Amino acid sequence: MGSHPKDVEITDDHPKTLLLQKHAEYILSYSKKKEDYEYTMTEHFRMSGMYWGITAMDILGQLDKMKPTDIIEFIRQCQDVCSGGFSPSVGHDTHILYTLSALQVLVLVEGLGEVDTEGVVRFVSGLQNPDGSFSGDRWGEVDTRFSFCALASLALLNRLDAIKTDKAVEFVMKCQNVDGGFGTRPGSESHAGQIYCCLGVLSLTGQLHRINGDLLGWWLCERQLPSGGLNGRPEKLPDVCYSWWVLASLTMLGRLHWINEYKMRTFIMATQDPETGGFTDRPGDMVDLYHTLFGLAGLSLLGEGGLKRINPVLCMPQYVVDRIGVSVQILD
Ligand code: FPP
Repeated sequence: MGSHPKDVEITDDHPKTLLLQKHAEYILSYSKKKEDYEYTMTEHFRMSGMYWGITAMDILGQLDKMKPTDIIEFIRQCQDVCSGGFSPSVGHDTHILYTLSALQVLVLVEGLGEVDTEGVVRFVSGLQNPDGSFSGDRWGEVDTRFSFCALASLALLNRLDAIKTDKAVEFVMKCQNVDGGFGTRPGSESHAGQIYCCLGVLSLTGQLHRINGDLLGWWLCERQLPSGGLNGRPEKLPDVCYSWWVLASLTMLGRLHWINEYKMRTFIMATQDPETGGFTDRPGDMVDLYHTLFGLAGLSLLGEGGLKRINPVLCMPQYVVDRIGVSVQILD
């Protein structure tokens, strides 16, 4: 059998089991090396980095190693008193992406009461456009990622009533393509990350029945390559982050069993770095927090022992989502 032109090879040298303690050490050391080149260069998305690291630590069962007071203080400093939104770092511009990350972390460390939540509701609802779409910030770029961030943020605050959810759903449905997938805007190509976002909007609004689960499930499970890894679109290389975007989408559709779970697990395990800890996009590359969370989250969806269960819509530990009483729709 010939090799797939856009795939990677998994060899016997790659890790096969979960290096749980190594990952916890990697995440902890990352936040301590504040003078490092990598830490400095990630300032413009620090809030999301914090979300990836803390969520990963929680599903690893090691949240107690993090300091909630320092975390909450940083987030408080990133809330803009005028707009109500959050920036990725102190002094940066507010954006809906970092607003969702801030809320996810605050919910996780039980610090919501420390920020102006009404300000957040004002910020998010102010970004909805007349066609139901959402801009990411005051500069106006529209993307279905921002629809998801808006709906997820308000769901975490139990304030979905503050926006026009029917219009939000109408816009998302306009972004569906004939292959069953979704893109960034109407007419944009199907992409697994955007599919996750659009299904998330439909799940949070109880509208998943609008989806042809067989058609979309087929497109999603076709993302699996011979190595077991998943790509985000046809003809792309596999990337461990798609073990989140695709597996979470298949879980929402009740079709997780449509992928080869054994091969999927083998691929994810192979993206661990046994020396540094952490996960890479594909075997042999450099680790980072983003791929570490999504590698672990994918394994959690597959039921890996030693990891806490993750919610497939909000990408937060299920016990945290239960604690705040948010329910999501999952198809049978
Ligand atoms: C791939 O992006 C991923 C997406 C497009 C989805 C991003 C979703 C969010 C930011 C919403 C918040 C998410 C969570 C989990 C709370 P990419 O730019 O890496 O795509 P590429 O692989 O095509 O380059």
